[in-house]
Amino acid sequence: MNTAIYAHRGASKIAPENTMPAFKLAKKIGADGIETDVQLTKDHIPVLIHDESLNRTTNGTGFIYQYTYEELKNLDTGSWFATKYKGTQIVTLEEFLTWIKDTKLKLNLELKNNIVDYSSIEYIVQEQLQHFNMDTRTVISSFNPNSIRRYNDLFPDADTALLLSKRVKDPLARVREVGANGLHTKYSVLTRRLVKDCQNNDLPLRIYTVNRPSRLMRCYKLNCNGIFTDVPHSAIEYKELY
Ligand code: G3P
Repeated sequence: MNTAIYAHRGASKIAPENTMPAFKLAKKIGADGIETDVQLTKDHIPVLIHDESLNRTTNGTGFIYQYTYEELKNLDTGSWFATKYKGTQIVTLEEFLTWIKDTKLKLNLELKNNIVDYSSIEYIVQEQLQHFNMDTRTVISSFNPNSIRRYNDLFPDADTALLLSKRVKDPLARVREVGANGLHTKYSVLTRRLVKDCQNNDLPLRIYTVNRPSRLMRCYKLNCNGIFTDVPHSAIEYKELY
């Protein structure tokens, strides 16, 4: 099997996460795909940012949903990472799709709606994916089972995955309950048994966030379908060795 290497929030070890520089670097390095997080502004514009709050990765404060895009676009989301990225703006989903559609990269879009329940985010995201013909190259994931269920009900052809951060009794039952096509789990949840169960049920299994060489090698050895990594350069290097 060919384990797909997804750059987690872009090449987020060497550029500010979820920014165009991080996405472009991931492509340059040779990642197979990009994982990024989507949330909605006050005026319902999808933007790519991981935390619900602006505090960690921008020079703003408060929550994404409290601001319009016009307000957010003036923020700096690069300086916290390194001075040379000063002035880097928050990326809209539209801007990102305009770029990625002309690449061969796969996409995993995580709906960040497990804390803030953004109304209609499923519609808004799917409409943009279809507009850019990216719906067939995209896996939608979320920790929010209700959102994944909603996505599948609304768009039965969509490729979706349930995110799990902890071991649960019957992970495959959880996936089936929400009608997802795949499972994305934290590395600590990974077992040989889980891999076998997923393979026997034709369920793609992708693992986050895999950075250490020993963990990368284990995922390759177990034939996981994909990994999310902050260090795609290293993941590629170890895959070549494997
Ligand atoms: O989507 C995989 C991984 O990104 C999930 O965890 O916290 O980075 O969104 P988190």
